[in-house]
Order: sequence, then C-alpha cells, then structure tokens
Amino acid sequence: MSASDCLALILAAGKGKRMYSDCPKVLLRILDQPLLSYLYMTLEEDFAGRIWTVIGHGADMVREHFVDRPELSSCFIIQEQPLGTGHAVLCAWPEITKQGKEWLLILNGDTPLVNSAHLRLLLESAQKEKADMAFLSLALPDPGAFGRVLRREGQVEAVIEAKEYDPAKHGKDPCEINAGIYCLRISSIGSLLAAISNDNAAGEYYLTDVISLAVGAGKKVIAVNLGNEPALLGLNTVKELAEAEERLRNELIDRWLEKGVLIRSVDQVRIGPEVYLEPGVEITGPCEIYGKSQLEHGVVVMANTYIRDAELRAGCLIKPFSHLENCLVSPGCLVGPFARVRPGTVLEEGSMVGNFVELKKSRLGRGSKASHLTYLGDAEIGPEVNIGAGTITCNYDGRTKHKTVIEAGAFIGSNTALIAPVTVGEKALVGAGSVITRDVPADHLGLSRGKQINRPRKQCLD
Ligand code: UD1
Ligand code: CA
Repeated sequence: MSASDCLALILAAGKGKRMYSDCPKVLLRILDQPLLSYLYMTLEEDFAGRIWTVIGHGADMVREHFVDRPELSSCFIIQEQPLGTGHAVLCAWPEITKQGKEWLLILNGDTPLVNSAHLRLLLESAQKEKADMAFLSLALPDPGAFGRVLRREGQVEAVIEAKEYDPAKHGKDPCEINAGIYCLRISSIGSLLAAISNDNAAGEYYLTDVISLAVGAGKKVIAVNLGNEPALLGLNTVKELAEAEERLRNELIDRWLEKGVLIRSVDQVRIGPEVYLEPGVEITGPCEIYGKSQLEHGVVVMANTYIRDAELRAGCLIKPFSHLENCLVSPGCLVGPFARVRPGTVLEEGSMVGNFVELKKSRLGRGSKASHLTYLGDAEIGPEVNIGAGTITCNYDGRTKHKTVIEAGAFIGSNTALIAPVTVGEKALVGAGSVITRDVPADHLGLSRGKQINRPRKQCLD
C-alpha cells in the first residue's frame, strides 16, 4: 500500500492529567513547538491534505493555535468527552469513511517524535504481511504505564493496558509495549470499533481492545517491533516531556555541528526543529533559536540571546543578552548587547542597534544608528540617520498607533520625544531634549525646549 491510499488520524483530545498544565497536552512545547506540530511536520511528508485530528480538551486553544493552517483545522473532529482512545476513533469514523480510502493510520498525539521512516515501515509491513491491522511496538526493560503486547506462539493476541495487566492472568510481563501508532484496513476493522466496551479499570473505551476483537474475528494483526526506540515513547509526564526534549535538542545540535555550524557551550544551546543555519554560523550558549529562524553564513550569535522567527543575513553580529523576534537583520548589522528587536522590524545593511534599544514594526535604514536607550515604534528611518541616546517615538495616543518618519541623513539629538504622526526631513537636526510635535522640514533645525538661563546662585536664593 502506498501512503496515498491511507488517511492519517491523530488522537489529540485527551486531557494530559499528568502534565499538570492548563494547556491541552498536544499544545505543550518541545523546543518551542507544540507536540502536535511535530506530528504535522512528519505527516506532511506523505499525508498532506489527508490529516484528521480528534480534539476535545482545550479544543478552542488548539483551534486558535492552528487558525492560520486551514488545511489542518478544517479537518479537526470534536470528541466532546474524553471517554477513551477507542471512543475518539469512533467520533472520527463518519468523516473517515466518507473519504473513500482503504487504509487508516492512527497516531497518539503525545508521540511527537515519530518520523516518516517509522511510519513507512509500518505501512510496508502491513502490506507485505497482508495484515488487516498493524501497530508499532517497543521492547522496554521497564514497560511502565504502557499497554502490554500479548502474543501466542509469536502471533499477536491482544494489547492489555497497564491498569488491567495481571501477571497471574496474563503471564510474565512480556516487556513488549504498544507504541500507540496503528494502521488498519478501514473496511475490515471498522465494524469492530463499535464492539469496544468501557467495562475496565479506567471505565474508558480502549482502542487497544480492537486488537483482541480483530484477532477473535480471524483478522490478521501484526506488531512491528522497533526495539528500544526512544522516539516512539508516548509523553505522559513532565519528566518524560523534558527527557524527550533533551534527546531531540542533542540530536539537532549534533546535526548542525556536523554541517559546519560552530556551537560553543553545546549543552546550553537550544535550536528549534524548523530553524535553518548555514555552515559558518557561530553560536555561543546559553542561547535559544526557535521558530522558522534562518541564519546565514558568518552570523555570530553571542551568549544569552533569544531569537525567534528571525532572518539574520550574512555576517551580522548579535551581541549578548539580545532578544529578536520576527524581524529581518541585514548583512553587516550590529545588534546589542541588550537590544530588543520586536516583530515587523527591518534593520537595513550595516545599521546598528545598541544597548537598551527597542524597535517595534520599524525600519532602520542602511548605515543608521540607534546606539543607546531608545524606543522606536512604527518608525520609518532612512539611511545614515543618527538617533541620539534616549530618543522615544511616542507612537501611541491611547487609542491608535501613529507613524514617525525620519528621512535620510537626519540627526536626532539625545533625549528627544517625537510625538507621532511626525516627519523629520532629510538632513534635519533635532536639538537634544526636544519634544517634537510638528514636522521638521529638510535641512532645518527643530528645537523645542526652554531657554537656559544662568544667574548667580546668591540671587536665586533671594
Ligand atoms: C495509549 C495506549 C497504550 C499505549 C500508549 C502508548 C490506549 C487505551 N492505550 O495509552 O496501549 O502503550 O498509548 O503511548 O489507547 N485521547 C483522545 N481521546 C480520549 C483519550 C485519549 O483523543 O478520550 C488521545 C490523547 O490526547 C493522547 C492519545 O489519545 O494523545 C493517547 O491517550 P493516552 O491517555 O495518553 O493513552 P495512554 O494511557 O498513554
Ligand atoms: Ca500517552
């Protein structure tokens, strides 16, 4: 069977009690990406356009998170109450059968690190063995809370949940567990789903009961054992989540080192799975780089820096303790230390942002400098502009945001407040300490401050 004959269904409606979070489990993050996003990243390789997700607990939050991914959110199915994995699949069944496909791949939403190779192996094994149902299993020295795979003469008989597992009744612990990833022939297994009962220790409809039902009905069920593969461990506790994150972090760091990215203090660098780094990038930990950030050759990121969804072009230098989000930093720029570059900001070639400078939705022109203690919000700043220390664009009047324009070659003296909307023309000069409420024409001096008077001290005291 090829993946095109197959739909994918993610079970993501559970509460995740053992995570102690108000957030649904599938939105908890590993390297700043929700668990569910990892499954989507993997499934999109072979199942794009055929991915269904059962959501329930925190459904609004899940919807909100994927609001800009209509191809996924239009395939959300609601399970009103978390009555068990079997019930979750039943809720999806009307939609699944409507699609007219032969096979269904089911994945637990809390197994984010499964990859396409695992899934292809599962589908190929099902086809090769002419199975009606196949699932991935693991051999674990400590099978913990996972469902146990029971076999008779090597053939799968059942999966018994940990809560139901009784050595007196089921025999010695097989230490083979169900990884929670299944593929099944829709026409062959579908009718058995309705026979799953909730007469068990948890009072839940266990999807795993379909295995013994299928075997009992003479269907062929196989378990594809992948040994002790940590990527397939379901994440149920905060400890398991932290361990999975650390494993993935290490793997990604190794991958980048092998590709020629110089990473110092490797144990303290966290790089998200969708980040792209060119060989010749240099990063010093501790630091975090997340989202779809892209760093070109020669970019240097110094310690204690946080970068998310930023494009850093060739040769720019990010000094320590800087925070960059959803911005573009052009070649040769210098940012930090202690700079904050907020969403919608573009730093043009060779510009400089120094300590305690914050930019939001602003453009800093080629070669322009804002070196100290400044806020630039909704500002359009031309090339070769100097922004003095303590300059503030007053962009918000309590209701609306307004724009500040500072044209090429202008010089803004220190401690200036620019009350937007306002324009400072080309090569204009603004005197230090000014509150600029009206436009300053090109080549003019704008000055608005009280005149200094000097009197003998004695006279002042009289
Ligand atoms: C499940 C399997 C177990 C397996 C383990 C692997 C069952 C009954 N047991 O156990 O055999 O070893 O995974 O990790 O399936 N969910 C829903 N709706 C519900 C309940 C759960 O959508 O009503 C979703 C959860 O969000 C989760 C997934 O199904 O993503 C698995 O549920 P979970 O409660 O974590 O099952 P386990 O007890 O781990
Ligand atoms: Ca689980």
